[in-house]
Amino acid sequence: MGNVYVFDHPLIQHKTAMLRMAETSVKDFRELVKEIAMLMGYEATRKLPLEEVKITTPICDTSVNMLKGEDIAIVPILRAGLGMVDGMLALVPNAKVGHVGLYRDPDTHEPVEYYCKLPNDIEKREIFVVDPMLATGGSASAAIDFIKARGGKRIIFMCLIAAPEGIEVLQKDHPDVDIFIAAKDEKLNENAYIVPGLGDAGDRLYGTK
Ligand code: PRP
Ligand code: URA
Repeated sequence: MGNVYVFDHPLIQHKTAMLRMAETSVKDFRELVKEIAMLMGYEATRKLPLEEVKITTPICDTSVNMLKGEDIAIVPILRAGLGMVDGMLALVPNAKVGHVGLYRDPDTHEPVEYYCKLPNDIEKREIFVVDPMLATGGSASAAIDFIKARGGKRIIFMCLIAAPEGIEVLQKDHPDVDIFIAAKDEKLNENAYIVPGLGDAGDRLYGTK
């Protein structure tokens, strides 16, 4: 079973609280999503592989550990996942970025795929799938299915707000995937929105309705 990590860092809790507020502007919402993704990314990248590199300091030759930057892929689930990409790239600027396009059918709440483009060496990469919301879990589970079908193996899922229902689905469907969450909420409502949640993440990021 994959591990579930819920962040209790005060900065993440404070910024997530601001994200939830109905009066937060599109500009502030976007900045907060980026900042929280970066703070979470610091912890979520803790197990990234390092390689030994020989360097020369002003004093002597030595060996140091450096990130294998070319081995990372960030895969946002379109469209709201895009908001988390820049925060992650600020930490790992050499990462490649794939995209999975999914939306929830408004009636069935089932995910519908409309786009998938991944780095062609995806099977070699540590993959960070990012999406602000894990509600029923349908979108995240389907996105990870698509990534695995194209060869992805080592996958981490990062989201800002998760419902217990979504965590359960993702753990059942993908027990090999660790899940990083800024806040675990109470439940889903009758429209499969997270309660208390923050509303529709895509609409709030892009100012659509
Ligand atoms: C939202 C969110 C997730 C999905 C979560 O996207 O960004 O992808 O819903 O819900 P689920 O866990 O029940 O599948 P949405 O379908 O609204 O599309 P958008 O990002 O294009 O707004
Ligand atoms: N997608 C969102 O953007 N918000 C929710 O609460 C559930 C799914």
